[in-house]
Amino acid sequence: MLNQENNELLTRVGPGTPMGELLRRYWTPALLVSEAPTPDGDPVRVRLLGEDLVAFRDTSGRLGLVGENCPHRGASLYFGRNEECGLRCPYHGWKFDADGACVDMPSEPPSSVFKDKVRLKAYPTHESGGIVWTYMGPDEHRPPFRDLGTETLAPEHVAATKLHTTCNWVQAMEGNLDTSHISWLHQWDGIDQIPDDGSDKPGYPTNAMSWKFWRHDRAPRLEIEDTWYGFKYVGVRETPAGNTHVRMSAFAYPYNTVIATVPFGTQHGLFVPADDHNTWRYSVTTRDHGSIAEVGGENLFALSPFEFGPSEVGRNGIIPRRYTAENDYGINREEQRHLTFSGVREFISQDFMVTESMGPIYDRSQERLGTSDKAIIRMRRLLMAAAKKVAAGEPAPAVDGDLDYRSIRSAEKILEPGEDWRELGTDRDPMVQLYEPGPDRTPVAGS
Ligand code: FES
Ligand SMILES: [Fe+2]
Repeated sequence: MLNQENNELLTRVGPGTPMGELLRRYWTPALLVSEAPTPDGDPVRVRLLGEDLVAFRDTSGRLGLVGENCPHRGASLYFGRNEECGLRCPYHGWKFDADGACVDMPSEPPSSVFKDKVRLKAYPTHESGGIVWTYMGPDEHRPPFRDLGTETLAPEHVAATKLHTTCNWVQAMEGNLDTSHISWLHQWDGIDQIPDDGSDKPGYPTNAMSWKFWRHDRAPRLEIEDTWYGFKYVGVRETPAGNTHVRMSAFAYPYNTVIATVPFGTQHGLFVPADDHNTWRYSVTTRDHGSIAEVGGENLFALSPFEFGPSEVGRNGIIPRRYTAENDYGINREEQRHLTFSGVREFISQDFMVTESMGPIYDRSQERLGTSDKAIIRMRRLLMAAAKKVAAGEPAPAVDGDLDYRSIRSAEKILEPGEDWRELGTDRDPMVQLYEPGPDRTPVAGS
């Protein structure tokens, strides 16, 4: 549990809040490139960390991300004219370039130098991996771009999507990071009929067998290891044959999660606050050789009754929400009794049903945490400690340019006798070396 003061510290991200200032020290997804306008095209609204912004692409192709309200008297520049390398306010014609400089002030006398004194808020942008990233912190603390692999991999090995959820970013991220709920929320009764395919033995199980393991041992033991990027942790389960199965997930500052998958995972889920009550859940997928899925065998969802898959993704990378609080997430009570634990067919909506139904910002002074919540507790502590450090003038963690963000991986495996789960997913892991043998991979100490 958190007292209300710490709950506020953890969750609030507006300008001037300690957590908001921490988040502003990282390059952050602002919108998908597919949403970004064409040169001289229509501006688009962007809400990010509680700020109202407008993105526009100028005549030369530069992407500006600027404050929505004109610094003259506040009209929305979303309605502005995007013309001749700048965005012109529709009210009195003041015009701003992508850096926020006022380049024309036609409502003042030609002799006026007032325009040189006026600036529009503007944030730098960087397009990478289908995402427009921005940095909203102080210039003197701007870190090098944090490359999750999108700078180096070919476009066909990179994909980005985003999905809206109507709750606070920490709440959404807690749901993603929590390993124990896979044994409950995402359960379905047909798992008991899946035949044993012989992969309940040390090594990598099939996805079909993973379902059985999650169902067999529904109270995983959690072990956590702090890392340079945050922490990684496992949920340890005993399999029906008595083996030790681990799901290893990672938390990376400030809102990244890499969730367990067979044999290892590199997909980052980024829980980016639009504001305190709304979150964009970005997903960045990177694969060196497009072959990771082959090792896990069949699609995780192929056997299940659940709806899920890339077919759900809109053409522009924005995943539509068909199931929301308004339609009770499509819950079917008959199926809840006889087929699925949640009663909800769409996998991701199972998660939304529980995290959004807590309310926009859950009052964590009311919660009662158990041993299966250890990773959630660690994540909160790390974030609050980092926010306090930044507020005290110290640097934000894990922003240095020489850090290898691509070495942040998840894993899922049945351990060999004596095998240390902490080696899974590192650059030393033979499975990683097999599938990510890129020449630019440099092991990071303690990764
Ligand atoms: S309010 Fe924008 S130019 Fe006057
Ligand atoms: Fe989930």
